[in-house]
Amino acid sequence: MCSIIGYLGLSSAAPIIVKGLKRMEYRGYDSVGVATFSEHQISVRKGVGKVLEVNKTEKLDELSGTIGIGHTRWATHGMVTDTNAHPHPSSSGEIAIVHNGIIENHEELKKELQKHGYTFKSQTDSEVIANLLQYNYDKTREIKKSVVDTVAELKGNYAFVAVFQDGTLSAARLHEPLIIGVGKEGYFISSDVLGFVEYTDEVIYPDNKEFVIIDKEGLKIFDFDANPVRHQITKVSKEFADVYKGQYAHYTLKEISEQPLTVSSAGNNTKLEIDLASDLIKHARNVYITGSGTSYNAALIAKFLFSKYAKIKIDPLISSEAQFSPDMFEEKSILVAISQSGESADVLEAVGIAKKTGSKIISIVNMMTSSLVHQSSISMGLNCGPEIGVAATKSFTSQLVVLYKIIDKICDGCMELDLTKVSEAIKKILSNDSKIKDVAKRLKNVSDIYVLGRGMHYPIASEGSLKLKELTYIHAEGLPGGELKHGPLALMDSNSYVLIINPNDSTYNDTLTSAREIKARGAKIIGISDKPSDVYDHWIDIPSINEPLYPLVEIVPIQLLAYYAAIDKDFDPDYPRNLAKSVTVK
Ligand code: AGP
Repeated sequence: MCSIIGYLGLSSAAPIIVKGLKRMEYRGYDSVGVATFSEHQISVRKGVGKVLEVNKTEKLDELSGTIGIGHTRWATHGMVTDTNAHPHPSSSGEIAIVHNGIIENHEELKKELQKHGYTFKSQTDSEVIANLLQYNYDKTREIKKSVVDTVAELKGNYAFVAVFQDGTLSAARLHEPLIIGVGKEGYFISSDVLGFVEYTDEVIYPDNKEFVIIDKEGLKIFDFDANPVRHQITKVSKEFADVYKGQYAHYTLKEISEQPLTVSSAGNNTKLEIDLASDLIKHARNVYITGSGTSYNAALIAKFLFSKYAKIKIDPLISSEAQFSPDMFEEKSILVAISQSGESADVLEAVGIAKKTGSKIISIVNMMTSSLVHQSSISMGLNCGPEIGVAATKSFTSQLVVLYKIIDKICDGCMELDLTKVSEAIKKILSNDSKIKDVAKRLKNVSDIYVLGRGMHYPIASEGSLKLKELTYIHAEGLPGGELKHGPLALMDSNSYVLIINPNDSTYNDTLTSAREIKARGAKIIGISDKPSDVYDHWIDIPSINEPLYPLVEIVPIQLLAYYAAIDKDFDPDYPRNLAKSVTVK
């Protein structure tokens, strides 16, 4: 999703802004731009492409001045073009803005502003902010008043930063992330701590419906009614500065490879919260669980394990569907919200709906500084470090570990949660990946892959197919084994590849039967199992483990398979096309 950044300080702004945008690349984008204020003038440079590519041609980091704003755009309104890239200046050029989110009433506002003589160059909804600010500023020449009047008229979700022609920065937020960094030599405004964490770890989190004004006199924060607001400065973890690839070719491979460590550390920073959450869930009348994408797949596994081991029924809900079933939440229930970023708009919406019914929110989050944490009664940390690859890998296994810890607590250790064994098993898979690389090569020209599992392995099949889609752009589908003969068997022929998740547990025999049915139709079978079988054309061996723990182990070879297949197809596994790491718009 779009990233915004602003800087006002003693150093040259443009290089700091370009570096910050590079750090936030993982959020996903298609174009980039910077504007700085110098000698009473705002200069804008921007273009389509990656930060370093655009910087090479447009020399973004050579813009002069110690005050500036920057942006990476993920197109929502208007094509991916240089003109639609941010920053957008107002028609007089006295103000320029960068924006993350969606302005819902941009068309009406645009028409109104055009009547007053303001002109527009782009097809974006964002440009309306620049001209609306300019319109309101032209009336009084007061920055604070112009921001108050502007936010009163904007509808939608947004965070924006504006630079005014006197060198003042102003930023406002409504349901989109905005963080202020307070450094020794300057102020930073960003969508993400990573935008500035190498300069300062002291931050302020403005609330929704607040705006900031930063000028030579310092920083002031106000609510949308213009009342001054006070916020404490808090410290963020320095670990977020540690986002380099090191010896690895890609972040995705680094993050897959970190899993022997991250499964052991998941939730360790929030042990007390895990105990409190377990107690609340145990005594709740109704429990729901929600998430998007990978986080939803973790929720599906949790549903299965909660009923089997903790004897507690929980209802899973895809976060983006919550708005269509607002009556689903019973009064005063518990909603467990799972999110790596803690900023997914869909998840935050589901949380908002649940809160209206008086429900308590328990969240499982990686970014402990995120909006979701602020909206939760209890938050448990994944503690797996920053995840930069757009495809969720280590965060998924960490989410599962936190869920396992809750269930294990409720059922008094019935899961025999031996994380050292899990860690050893993952290490073994990672160190013995030649078979996976070999199978990945065979997927190069394949157009469809099916991933099959039964019981708790079905959500893993869904998660595996999500990884294959995202990284290889091959059509992939997760299937519950028993459903084959109810339809999907019609698709199987000698061009099909089917990944069978078949650990040696209670699902083994039934899954093997499904594999034989598929094999009889000529499809190629890749077996992921701790037990060989003649039905597999290719066998990816996984270590045996205690039954409930198989999901933590069996997903790893599929993550690797998707990664290596992407490399063979020459795709960038870290930044899949059209996707963003943190989906902050609906
Ligand atoms: C997974 O590989 C995805 N990129 C995506 O589905 C992701 O899991 C989803 O957008 C939810 O993100 P969150 O966990 O940060 O809320």
